[in-house]
Amino acid sequence: MHKPSEHFQEISQLTPRLTEIVGGRDCYIITDDNVEEHCLPQLIQGCEPLQEADIITVHPGEVSKCMEILEGVLLTLLENNANRQSLIVNVGGGVISDLGGFGATIYKRGVEYINVPTSLLAMTDAAIGGKTAVNLGSSKNMVGSFHQPLSVLCCFDFLKTLPEEELKSGMAEMLKHGLIADKDLWSRLNSFDLPTIQGLIERSARIKEKIVQSDPLEKGPRKLLNFGHSIGHAIESLYLDKEKVISHGHAIAIGLILESYLSVKHTGLSSASFDGIHKKLASLYEIPKLTTKDIDKAIDFLRNDKKNRDGEFIFTLIKEIGAGIIEISITESQIVESFDLLNG
Ligand SMILES: NC(=O)c1ccc[n+]([C@@H]2O[C@H](COP(=O)([O-])OP(=O)(O)OC[C@H]3O[C@@H](n4cnc5c(N)ncnc54)[C@H](O)[C@@H]3O)[C@@H](O)[C@H]2O)c1
Ligand SMILES: [Zn+2]
Repeated sequence: MHKPSEHFQEISQLTPRLTEIVGGRDCYIITDDNVEEHCLPQLIQGCEPLQEADIITVHPGEVSKCMEILEGVLLTLLENNANRQSLIVNVGGGVISDLGGFGATIYKRGVEYINVPTSLLAMTDAAIGGKTAVNLGSSKNMVGSFHQPLSVLCCFDFLKTLPEEELKSGMAEMLKHGLIADKDLWSRLNSFDLPTIQGLIERSARIKEKIVQSDPLEKGPRKLLNFGHSIGHAIESLYLDKEKVISHGHAIAIGLILESYLSVKHTGLSSASFDGIHKKLASLYEIPKLTTKDIDKAIDFLRNDKKNRDGEFIFTLIKEIGAGIIEISITESQIVESFDLLNG
């Protein structure tokens, strides 16, 4: 059963709730080096039951979302006698909630876990919804599960140590939530100013929760969350191929622009709305210039998207700001046309 996330301003407000949930259970914290340094000390200090917990720390970043690290985590649980009644506490960004959540699904056929997200992206997206996964080779999220966390506890205080690039990455998902479901949220997100973002995190998380609740196994409405992601993932793959770095959210911001352009052509988004979307996203994120060769390569990546059906490109678009629409069929030439916005 899906439970809404709980939100706290300060760590000292989160820890009593965490203490209550953990109770006297045998606990295992899964985290990464950065989070262990910046977030864990205050969390453990305020939560007595966690002071006895084993801490399993992995390297930060996507490199840890793999089968090898997962096996290491599972072996550590086994060596430390974790059992079916044990509780896994994932403290970190989306890599940790994905890795630890999947570990919790398969360890001894399933143990309970809670997420304490520490990145903006995890608070508003990754830690919510019970989708967990690791990568298989270079294929993202190929092995995973649907396994709901017992609780998701978000605390704004953690964002104070989050690097700016990560903040920008998470905000792209909030902007997406606004575009697909909440016009007012969209219009309030205009800068990376922390106090403004703070007031909108819970609202953004609720949008994801509501969509997930209506479709826990991703059969229909959950596809709304894919807006910006078909082209966004192709941009991420393109950068990976060029051995250049781009954050997930930055690539999604570009995807949001191009897929909004397609929305003008296909689903009746007004040109004025598109201009507003384009202008806002270009003021928040650097929009790269791509060569014709880059664009061809990005289209190649799109052809391999797992959401395609029988040679058709299936996209989630928007009808207007705040109203997403799923399963729109797009032709390749229309996608190429949208990429012209980036042709430098
Ligand atoms: N399961 C889902 O539904 C879902 C949804 C969206 C994204 N994801 C996954 O989430 C991952 C991306 O999540 P992410 O952006 O949080 O990545 P991440 O977990 O790698 O965190 C980003 C970086 O920020 C650091 N960090 C996190 N919190 C910090 C803090 N409070 N202070 C200082 N540093 C901190 C981390 O150590 C890391 O270096 C991807 O693997 C993606 O596939 C999953
Ligand atoms: Zn995303």
